[in-house]
Amino acid sequence: MAELLHTGRELRKRLAASDGERGVVMTMGALHRGHAALIRAARERVGAAGTVVVTVFVNPLQFGPGEDLDRYPRTLDADVELAEAAGADIVFAPAVEEVYPGGEPQVRIAAGPMGERYEGASRPGHFDGVCTVVAKLLHLIRPDLAWFGEKDAQQLAVIRRMAVDLNFPVEIVGVPTVRESDQVALSSRNRYLSAVERISARELSRALLTGAAAAPGGPAAVRRAARAVLDAAAEAAPPVVLDYLALIDPADFTEAADDHTGEAVLAVAARVGATRLIDNVRIHF
Ligand code: PAJ
Repeated sequence: MAELLHTGRELRKRLAASDGERGVVMTMGALHRGHAALIRAARERVGAAGTVVVTVFVNPLQFGPGEDLDRYPRTLDADVELAEAAGADIVFAPAVEEVYPGGEPQVRIAAGPMGERYEGASRPGHFDGVCTVVAKLLHLIRPDLAWFGEKDAQQLAVIRRMAVDLNFPVEIVGVPTVRESDQVALSSRNRYLSAVERISARELSRALLTGAAAAPGGPAAVRRAARAVLDAAAEAAPPVVLDYLALIDPADFTEAADDHTGEAVLAVAARVGATRLIDNVRIHF
């Protein structure tokens, strides 16, 4: 049975008694098959002798004013069950006061320019909040490896960069996006969508996959093809309200040039009803 722990003290004690490789999967809960894929990857890698820690913490620091912090789904019992079934040994679910005992932290990690574009432009301070909590959890848990989803491509890139820039002794591992059978990326926020909104939400992944299919024509053709799907989706009922569509160089999260070669990330963010959704696909030029 996975152990459910709430305090850093309990966690340190439990981890002191463990050996083998230690892996962590950080989450905000409301776990789904996307999270399970990360936990399974961790279990597979560290083996039976290793320890897999899943953290469940809705981090106030990464939510902006007017965002969904208060209504973010909280389903801890189900989360412990899912984490256990996927191979977790420990679920660490601290209270806000446990993570931020001094209230709002004065000292934080700045994600820098990579954290200011795309998601960072729409959600100022978001990646500083993510980096700060990820750094704190890495210090508490001291894992050998940490798994993050490609679903949040910019988050993965920023965390990889933080580990390099600040010498975190951890290997950051990316995991491909898990999708529903209709290609919608799994997200804890999908449960906000009404039935008709859920149908409009399909247009995000459809735009990305249509863009990816145009890859032989180069970056401009990819942008054009994806944009055409989103232009039509803006007229759907309910409409898909575009925040950004971007073809990104994953190395530094800047816009890919028209003559870009190698890997790129085609990313989209849009609102359907009151719900903000993001998705991306990897494209090879
Ligand atoms: P959360 O949104 O709960 O996601 C936790 C992890 O699961 C992230 O690494 C995310 O990329 C991954 N994930 C979510 N949906 C996925 C999907 N459909 N397929 C594959 N992976 C998926 O991301 C966060 O929480 C927070 O910002 C956190 C890193 C925990 C810091 O608070």
